[in-house]
Amino acid sequence: MSVEKSIAILGGTAGLGRALALRLTQAGRRVIIGSRDAERAAKAAQDVNRIIGGGLAVGDLNEEAAAKADLVFFAVPFTGLYQLAKNVKSKMKTGAIAVSCVVPLESDLGGGPEYLEPSSGSAAEALQAILGDGVRVVSALTYVPANALEDLNSSVDCDVVVCGDKEASKEVMEVLSLIKGIRPLYAGGLKYSRITERLTVLLIRLNRQYNSDRAGIRFTYI
Ligand SMILES: NC(=O)c1ccc[n+]([C@@H]2O[C@H](COP(=O)([O-])OP(=O)(O)OC[C@H]3O[C@@H](n4cnc5c(N)ncnc54)[C@H](OP(=O)(O)O)[C@@H]3O)[C@@H](O)[C@H]2O)c1
Repeated sequence: MSVEKSIAILGGTAGLGRALALRLTQAGRRVIIGSRDAERAAKAAQDVNRIIGGGLAVGDLNEEAAAKADLVFFAVPFTGLYQLAKNVKSKMKTGAIAVSCVVPLESDLGGGPEYLEPSSGSAAEALQAILGDGVRVVSALTYVPANALEDLNSSVDCDVVVCGDKEASKEVMEVLSLIKGIRPLYAGGLKYSRITERLTVLLIRLNRQYNSDRAGIRFTYI
């Protein structure tokens, strides 16, 4: 029998991370919600437990959350990614999987919603460079709208392209497939995060054109 991987979500107190915590606890998984502030983490976990019912979410500082988990989701704005990665690097378990959900956008710096290319090519590759070989980085959820995840009454009508080390991606896909409606698809190595991160820009534009707050993606004939 395979042992369930423990899950932490860094930056899980709002937005995408919080929405993911809701969906994973709804699916019956324990989740550690990480934050820069212990009180905020505890409050977010309380909220998630109240909404879902039960006690599957706990809150902790990002560093502690990262130390306890096999699967560590990074769900913070790009502007905070490098410092967070440096803070948690020495704490993470050897063999842990880091999941980058991060998209570098000029809007993070007060500009428009255009992609801001990191020198390593993508946020996921930048994260891998900081965390080093002991941790396998997988890219996922980069263009999946938090609004769709948060709407617990509806299934999430999205395919999620996952890229990175194949075995690590498989572990991430198993967890993501617990979320009703999501179909995870494996694309290949981490360099394809250069494409999946950029898809966000397109979806932001489509949201504006078609007055939506959750444009998503389905791939057909596969
Ligand atoms: N929102 C979406 O629909 C969506 C979809 C796909 C991907 N993404 C990506 O997911 C990431 C998170 O997006 P979001 O919209 O959820 O962001 P957000 O709501 O602005 O932030 C999420 C959490 O990150 C933490 N945080 C904020 N600034 C930080 C910093 N400088 N350093 C460390 N932690 C910080 C905060 O937690 P504490 O203050 O408690 O530490 C905050 O609650 C982004 O990279 C975004 O591009 C978002």
